[in-house]
Amino acid sequence: MGRGMFITLEGVEGSGKTTQSALVAEVLRAAGRAVSVTHEPGGTRAGEAIRAIFLDAAIKLEVAAELLLVLADRAQHVREKLRPALQAGEIVISDRYSDSTAAYQGYGRGFDLKLLEDLNQLASDGMRPDLTFVLDCPAEIGLERSRARRGSGADRPDRFEGEHIEFHRRVRDGFLAIARAEPGRVIVVDATAPRAVVTARVVAEINARIAS
Ligand code: TYD
Repeated sequence: MGRGMFITLEGVEGSGKTTQSALVAEVLRAAGRAVSVTHEPGGTRAGEAIRAIFLDAAIKLEVAAELLLVLADRAQHVREKLRPALQAGEIVISDRYSDSTAAYQGYGRGFDLKLLEDLNQLASDGMRPDLTFVLDCPAEIGLERSRARRGSGADRPDRFEGEHIEFHRRVRDGFLAIARAEPGRVIVVDATAPRAVVTARVVAEINARIAS
């Protein structure tokens, strides 16, 4: 059993991470690779329970509590799901991971980035992605897409969708800053491009890493 490859997809609301996780996994599986797709917050039984509190805008949460919840989710996710799958040699694609904490709780909420890095070290047990894609689009476009997806149903916006546009702009800028700081790990992909173009770009980068 080898060491698999840990890939994360990041980006603002409505940037297409969930769709792309599924499409990319499909292409890789068709090429004969073992692939797991997972997401944060969630991905485990405890994580889904945490997610329900984390996202419900009707449940009042202090920002410190919000931060610690998403880290608790990660602590469970890494140990229960991500690490075992990687140890089994799989390619694991996670729809959001640590960079979302830096972008949302750091750039968005204003927590100190160094503090977040230290806390994340504990939560993730030091597990870092091999490769990260930031699916980048203007915050307005992403929000519009996620609102349209929800349609006219009874669903309320979740805790983050309900945030003002400046918050989402800081989050986007945060992801771009992370990408600039770690160009070897993080690749920015234009998420306003056609869906198939985004998938092809992501798959090509993954295949290049596998080959190298
Ligand atoms: P989700 O429904 O998965 O949204 P999306 O489709 O936009 O990914 O909701 C996850 C929300 O949680 C999203 O608004 C970002 C937020 N989040 C954080 O604030 N910090 C984190 O560390 C993570 C993983 C997610």
